[in-house]
Amino acid sequence: MRKPSSRANRGPFLNTVQCGDCVSILRQMPKQSVDVVITSPPYFQQRDYSGIGIGNEGTVNAYIDSLMECLGELLRVVKPTGSIVYNLGDKYLNSSLLLVPYRFAIAATEAFGLTLVNNITWAKINPTPRQFKRRLVSSTEPFFHFVKGDDYYYARDKFMNEPRGKQNSPTGRLGEKYRGLIAESSLTTGQKVRALRCLDEVIGEVRRGDIQGFRMKIRGVHAPAFGGQDGGRKIQMQRNGFTIIRLLGEPMKKDLMQSPVETIKGIGHPAVFPMGVVQELIKLLCPVGGVVLDPYVGSGTTLLAAREENCQYIGIDINPEYCGYAARRLSNA
Ligand SMILES: C[S@@+](CC[C@H](N)C(=O)[O-])C[C@H]1O[C@@H](n2cnc3c(N)ncnc32)[C@H](O)[C@@H]1O
Repeated sequence: MRKPSSRANRGPFLNTVQCGDCVSILRQMPKQSVDVVITSPPYFQQRDYSGIGIGNEGTVNAYIDSLMECLGELLRVVKPTGSIVYNLGDKYLNSSLLLVPYRFAIAATEAFGLTLVNNITWAKINPTPRQFKRRLVSSTEPFFHFVKGDDYYYARDKFMNEPRGKQNSPTGRLGEKYRGLIAESSLTTGQKVRALRCLDEVIGEVRRGDIQGFRMKIRGVHAPAFGGQDGGRKIQMQRNGFTIIRLLGEPMKKDLMQSPVETIKGIGHPAVFPMGVVQELIKLLCPVGGVVLDPYVGSGTTLLAAREENCQYIGIDINPEYCGYAARRLSNA
């Protein structure tokens, strides 16, 4: 658990949920007082949040203009070392995708000269079940990471810092593919027994975190190995029927985050953020004790994640009902 900084910022907005239009509230906030913005505005013409706030403009351009007005204010309150992360969903019109998130990202970089560091893909493990006849089910959304300059805070080591075994086997079926390939291979029974034993050993090394991962090459299944290091893999494949390549070093930090869509019992908000994804972004982009802001806070997930990571928070929502949800979640947590 990260410890909060003793030099905590103070101010009337800190660790509160502000109820009102984000543009007018942001105008009252001190400049350069926020470390990270993580937010998800209403998507274009997707939902009616009780008829209040943005999202139901007549055209995509008008919607993007609304987003840009808020983004302009965010740039003033974010520190030069800060980051701004926007999650947006897309929209179909006449069976064709509008690419709304990407239009916004282009507008943001062009109008404000922001740097788009990454387009992080959130892959939903449990998208809303649908059976389209002529298209596939959308199951990803972008999280755009923008910065104002090169000097942004970035704790790469803290991002997705799971035990290695867990990272390599989210489903717990590490090595399953190789088991099947060994069974179907033309190796002798003795070679198959040895291959399975060595496979179990290397899986144990991954699970303990001794190595990052491995690849297995099986004679007759995979392309022949090169001689190279480790006593000659080519010879191992010829003699034993297989070779195992151990992958050492740090796990790769990828722009892909998998997580389920969340719903919260007793909270009637239709578009709740995936808490784990937000927590990882806070670890990556916000120093301990720093200030996390969500100007479209909805049910308050960003604020809970910030508190969980020992950061301070500011939430804004135009809908008093949602401000109530967020405040309740914070006091119940
Ligand atoms: C997609 S939801 C955010 C959900 C949130 N990420 C969560 O985890 O619950 C967007 C929110 O923006 C709010 N909103 C719409 N227009 C706004 C405005 N002009 N100022 C502040 N909030 C606004 C809506 O009331 C809605 O709760």
